[in-house]
Amino acid sequence: MRIVLVGPPGAGKGTQAAYLAKNLSIPHISTGDLFRANISQGTDLGKQAKAYMDAGNLVPDEVTNAMAQDRMEKPDAENGFLLDGFPRNVSQAGVLDELLTAGGLKLDAVLDLEVPEDEVVKRIAGRRICRNDSAHVFHVTYSPPKKEGVCDVCGGELYQRDDDSEETVRTRLEVYHTQTEPIIDHYRAQGLVVTISALGKVTEVTERAMEALGRA
Ligand code: AP5
Repeated sequence: MRIVLVGPPGAGKGTQAAYLAKNLSIPHISTGDLFRANISQGTDLGKQAKAYMDAGNLVPDEVTNAMAQDRMEKPDAENGFLLDGFPRNVSQAGVLDELLTAGGLKLDAVLDLEVPEDEVVKRIAGRRICRNDSAHVFHVTYSPPKKEGVCDVCGGELYQRDDDSEETVRTRLEVYHTQTEPIIDHYRAQGLVVTISALGKVTEVTERAMEALGRA
């Protein structure tokens, strides 16, 4: 399956993507995680992306599109992928459409996670991620690690993302509403959008998602 996951910052895209990718046997491709890995490795791409991310703005399309395309062309993505955080504006959606069409491929679904803004703010405020791998995600209240400050998966140090400050979150939400939400209409016109509530336990949301994707 080829799926795009969409939803506001803190909706639980990364959390759900980890389970869905496993259940569906497809790679989880997160542009946010790819940027963070580049930042921690000190690459040129990471240096270019950091200032935009810290301010809560989108990294320029040319940088993002090239990185996403490169990842989607890796052998493990040949039979499908779960995109998390890409596309993030209508221009990126157009580029993805062109890439897929050129390869004779198509998306199966765009899974839209709906969460009220007050819940998103709570989820982001309590989020802690691992220094070794930003896909290892915890929450101080909702899914605390066994040992405070330590990743259950790899023992890495847990920290709060630089872009999870109150001010940056406000910018990210605004960017989501103005630039990312319009892609939902873009894909609705193609009959691809399935919207689910992302409230409730993580496992309940995964079940809801699998059902919406026709894979329950
Ligand atoms: P990115 O990393 O994609 O951030 P985001 O979209 O803002 O999403 P988040 O990672 O904040 O949240 P999430 O929905 O994954 O939630 P999570 O599962 O962690 O992007 C970061 C930046 O990179 C962007 O701002 C931009 O600068 C740049 N970027 C990325 N892609 C780009 C692109 N295509 N173009 C240009 N720039 C790009 O969950 C949040 C918390 O809630 C966690 O603590 C979790 O434990 C908890 N939680 C999850 N589910 C539940 C539940 N059901 N109940 C209770 N708690 C829950």
